[in-house]
Amino acid sequence: MKIALFSDVHANLPALEAVLDELAERDDLSGVYHLGDLVGYAPWPNEVIDAVRARAIAGVGGNYDTTVALQHDHCGCVYEDPVQAELSHESFAWTLDATTDASKRWLGSLPFRLDLRPLGGHRAGPRVMLVHGNPILNTVYWKADRSDAFCRKMAGHLGAKSGDVVAFGHTHIPWNRVVDGVLFVNTGSVGRPKDGDPRAGYAVLSLEDDGFAATHVRVAYDVGAAADAIRASSLPDEFAVFLESGGRFTHHSRVDPD
Ligand SMILES: [Fe+2]
Repeated sequence: MKIALFSDVHANLPALEAVLDELAERDDLSGVYHLGDLVGYAPWPNEVIDAVRARAIAGVGGNYDTTVALQHDHCGCVYEDPVQAELSHESFAWTLDATTDASKRWLGSLPFRLDLRPLGGHRAGPRVMLVHGNPILNTVYWKADRSDAFCRKMAGHLGAKSGDVVAFGHTHIPWNRVVDGVLFVNTGSVGRPKDGDPRAGYAVLSLEDDGFAATHVRVAYDVGAAADAIRASSLPDEFAVFLESGGRFTHHSRVDPD
């Protein structure tokens, strides 16, 4: 029994297509789910939504999805400095304008959390619980350096018990670890990785005799094509550099548009 989880596509259609192509070729998957942030930062928000809907891939609403759906005035993101804030607001305004009413309505229909019973609802467990950020807010960064006590607290909010899985994204950096028998998995990002590796990322949960284990997978795609499309759009060129650097370019200053 294996389940694929992906998150943070952020309107990057070439990256999503590469992942979906690989998932379609695998014959070992019982399910595929997304963990939100389908839009923002790249020029294909409607196309990404259509691709996910066409494959009936269920998932949760990320902070970008829910704020675009509500036509809020920002994405709820955390900014490290005024330049990041300026770029983020440009992305949000662009995405609000580009997404169709139908896309906004669908984004607004995504649940905050999704609980799965991979062996069937007629059995007590194990459970796989999906959120975008953490179980309280979809804007909280749950990084690998969070304490075991934090993980226990989050498991408590969800009602997760030993043998269950709690999966999330939002930070764009993959990691996993077990605390008190609960497997915590950050899936990383399909369309906007921040760990220095520009390839798209997703995670696979494998249910073995001794419980779930997580594997992190990377998929090469045409990063140059995605970057070119960003530069050809009215989105900031900084987002192209960000993709090319695997998120190592941190937006503390604007790039020279030439
Ligand atoms: Fe994100």
